[in-house]
Amino acid sequence: MKAIVQDTYGSADVLELRDVAEPVVGENEVLVRVRAAGAGPDVWHVMAGKPYFARLMLGFRRPKERIRGWDVAGTVEAVGAGVTRFAPGDEVMGVAPGSFAELAIGKADKLVPKPARLSFEEAAALPVSGVTALQSLRKAEVRPGQRVLVVGAAGGVGSLTVQMAKALGAHVTGVASTSKLELVRSIGADDAIDYTREDFTDGSRRWDVIVDTAGRRPLRRLRRALTPKGTLVIVGGDGGGRWTGGFFRGMLRGPLLSLFVGQKLGMISSKETQEDLQAVAELIEAGSVTPVIDRTFDLVEAADAIRYLEQGHPRGKVVVTV
Ligand SMILES: NC(=O)c1ccc[n+]([C@@H]2O[C@H](COP(=O)([O-])OP(=O)(O)OC[C@H]3O[C@@H](n4cnc5c(N)ncnc54)[C@H](OP(=O)(O)O)[C@@H]3O)[C@@H](O)[C@H]2O)c1
Repeated sequence: MKAIVQDTYGSADVLELRDVAEPVVGENEVLVRVRAAGAGPDVWHVMAGKPYFARLMLGFRRPKERIRGWDVAGTVEAVGAGVTRFAPGDEVMGVAPGSFAELAIGKADKLVPKPARLSFEEAAALPVSGVTALQSLRKAEVRPGQRVLVVGAAGGVGSLTVQMAKALGAHVTGVASTSKLELVRSIGADDAIDYTREDFTDGSRRWDVIVDTAGRRPLRRLRRALTPKGTLVIVGGDGGGRWTGGFFRGMLRGPLLSLFVGQKLGMISSKETQEDLQAVAELIEAGSVTPVIDRTFDLVEAADAIRYLEQGHPRGKVVVTV
C-alpha cells in the first residue's frame, strides 16, 4: 500500500510517499481503509521531533512510528477477533497511528461511527481537535452566560472551541487575525477581536474563561484579561522553544501560581477517549458543531500540507485525502 513515511526527524522534506507492507489487524484493533486524515500541529511535532523532550515517547533518533498521521476517517476493512462494535463496511472516525496511508490500524476504543451528515474530509478534521476543544471547556467548567475568550479562534482547535462554547450557552469572543474575523463570527462567536490591531490583554476587558490555543502570550498578560476568579486553559501555541515547547508555562508555572491567586491557570493534555469522540459526534449530529475545512491535499502532497500548516495560519483544519 502507499503511505507517507519518514526515516529521520526533520522538515517536511523527510516525508516520502512509498510502498509499504499492509498492516495486520490485532485482536482489539480495526483495519481502516483511509479516506481522509487530519493534518495538524500534532503531525508536525512527530515529524520534526520537537520539542525535544517529546522524543522520550516518540523515539530518540527517529520516530518509532515511521508512517505519519493520527486523525482518521474511513471505512472498516477488517476487525480483530475481539471487536464486536464494528464490521467491515462501517464508516468510522477517530485516531489511527499512520493514517497518512491507504490502510491504517486503530484501536477499537479509539474509533466511533462517522456522523452521517459529515463527509470523510470533515470527519477527519474532528478527532484530535474536537476532543481537545471539548476537554478544554470541560476543564474550565464553562457554564451558560459565562464570558469565554478563545485565542486562535480560526484554527483547528479554536474553531471547534468557539462552536462548543456557544452550544454550552456561553457568550463567546474569538481572537484571530484580520482576514479571519468574518469566519469567526460566521461560526457563532458573539464578538471577534483582531489581535493585530487590539491588545485584548490590556486589562480593559475581562473574561471568565480563556481557552488559549495560539500566540503564547505570557501568563501575566493573559491574567490581566481574566476576571479575578477566572480560569485559563492553555491548549498550545507555537514558538515555545525547541526543548520543552513552552510546556512549563501551562504545566508548572500556571498551576503553581494558581495556589496564590484567585484565578485558575492550567494546561490541558487531551486524550482521545471513545466517550469523548462519541460526545463530539453527538454535537455534530445535533447540528451544534460543524468542522471548518481550510484545504485538502492528496496523499502524494502530504508534505505540502505540512508546509502549509507550518505557516501557522490555517482557517480551520487541513486534511489529507486518500
Ligand atoms: N494540549 C493539547 O492536548 C493539544 C491538542 C491539540 C493541539 N494542541 C496545540 O494547540 C495549538 C493549536 O492547535 P490547532 O490545531 O488549533 O492549530 P492551527 O490549526 O494551526 O491554528 C492555529 C491558529 O493560531 C492563530 N494564531 C497564530 N498566531 C497567533 C497569535 N499571535 N495570536 C492569536 N492567534 C494566533 C492562527 O490564526 P490567525 O491566522 O488568525 O493568526 C491559526 O488559526 C497547537 O500549538 C497545537 O500543538 C494542543
